[in-house]
Amino acid sequence: MKCVDDFRLKFGKKEYVPIITGGMGVDISTADLALVAARLGGIGHISDAMTPAVADQRFRTGFVKQKLKKYKFNVASSDKSAIQFNLEHLAEASRLHVARTMEAKKGDGLIFINVMEKLTMNNPRETLRVRVASVMDGGIDGITLGAGLHLSTLGLVQDHPRFRDVKFGLIVSSLRALTLFLRKNARLNRPLDYIVVEGPLAGGHLGFDMNWAEFDLKTIVDEILQYLKQEGLDIPVVPAGGIFTGTDAVEFLETGSAAVQVATRFTVTKECGLPDKVKQEYFKANEEDIEVNLVSTTGYPMRMLKNSPAIGAGIRPNCEAYGYLLDAAGKCSYIDAYNRELEKHPDGKNISVKDKTCMCTQMRNFDCWTCGHNAYRLKDTSRRLPDGTYQLLTAEHVFKDYQYSKDHQIMLPAEEAA
Ligand SMILES: Cc1cc2nc3c(=O)[nH]c(=O)nc-3n(C[C@H](O)[C@H](O)[C@H](O)COP(=O)(O)O)c2cc1C
Repeated sequence: MKCVDDFRLKFGKKEYVPIITGGMGVDISTADLALVAARLGGIGHISDAMTPAVADQRFRTGFVKQKLKKYKFNVASSDKSAIQFNLEHLAEASRLHVARTMEAKKGDGLIFINVMEKLTMNNPRETLRVRVASVMDGGIDGITLGAGLHLSTLGLVQDHPRFRDVKFGLIVSSLRALTLFLRKNARLNRPLDYIVVEGPLAGGHLGFDMNWAEFDLKTIVDEILQYLKQEGLDIPVVPAGGIFTGTDAVEFLETGSAAVQVATRFTVTKECGLPDKVKQEYFKANEEDIEVNLVSTTGYPMRMLKNSPAIGAGIRPNCEAYGYLLDAAGKCSYIDAYNRELEKHPDGKNISVKDKTCMCTQMRNFDCWTCGHNAYRLKDTSRRLPDGTYQLLTAEHVFKDYQYSKDHQIMLPAEEAA
């Protein structure tokens, strides 16, 4: 019987342990988490979501404060179109986040960054160009394009000196999305280095409608593998979403996939950016406590714990400080939903917005508890302590469990001294 360690992901002549920890915004997939995956010979993702806010926390910079100060006059207005990101600050934040992570890298693995097209930031094209270019400046090993079709993203940075040296991957949830991308980018003569195929059981946003349950990761992966073969394209395929044990991974690796991308099992590790109290919520969750809903202002369905404080919260939109989901016209569906409720409660008190949530603030505050479908099995991956809480894991423990486990077994952590 095989384990994940019997396989290797190959990029050119280099080989890696075929385990990729997925990007989890906002700073849930911390640099510390990604660095463990890289140290152990795999690939770890950091995320480019809200890098100015993340840099402020990591490096005591003042990007958010400066932006808020500049746009404070606009706080009470529902028209957010005037709010623009300072592109130099944005570049500096992204570069810092990446460069400091790369400086700390040890071992033979790689550090990638997850870049979301849906972070439209009231200036979609320029903010995306700056983000992608500055993470390349910062020395990132690879860029995984997600949360959007990214039809024009590569073209934005085609003149960057690292355009052909950095690895570029794309997250898709269907063969159709992949062929659209390939067709649109054929003229760049810059093939993708890997393709992440994200199925309906993943955490974060889903590339499916609310009928996600009708789809199945294995079917989509097989379709994409067959297409690539037929076209003579040799691009590593990386399934993601619901791969909970090493054996789940082996089933994909044995049938043509090059690596797997996993995330949910790492949400309960010490290195994960969620507050410890929230990690306990993930441990405790039962299957019926998890839902896919439409509260995200990206327009994509998102999976989360039903008791996420973000659901039904009624905070004032915070676009002067954040504003990452403002579209090209300076609009966000949360602003409209909030204003509708404000009309019913003109004193601004007791506002609850049920249909949308202020994604920037809620994600930044770790109050939107997104997770994969299998989060309800996390309790089986650790020990219950006498006080009723669960023992946190280390990222190394979870990584090695994926790497060496057989027969769907999950290795429990060594008991921690009281
Ligand atoms: C807490 C959490 C946050 C996530 N955030 C993002 C994100 O910001 N961008 C993204 O492309 N995928 C995101 N994902 C998806 C993961 O990167 C990954 O592809 C997927 O969750 C793998 O499935 P698994 O969680 O069942 O292992 C997130 C997943 C989780 C669990």
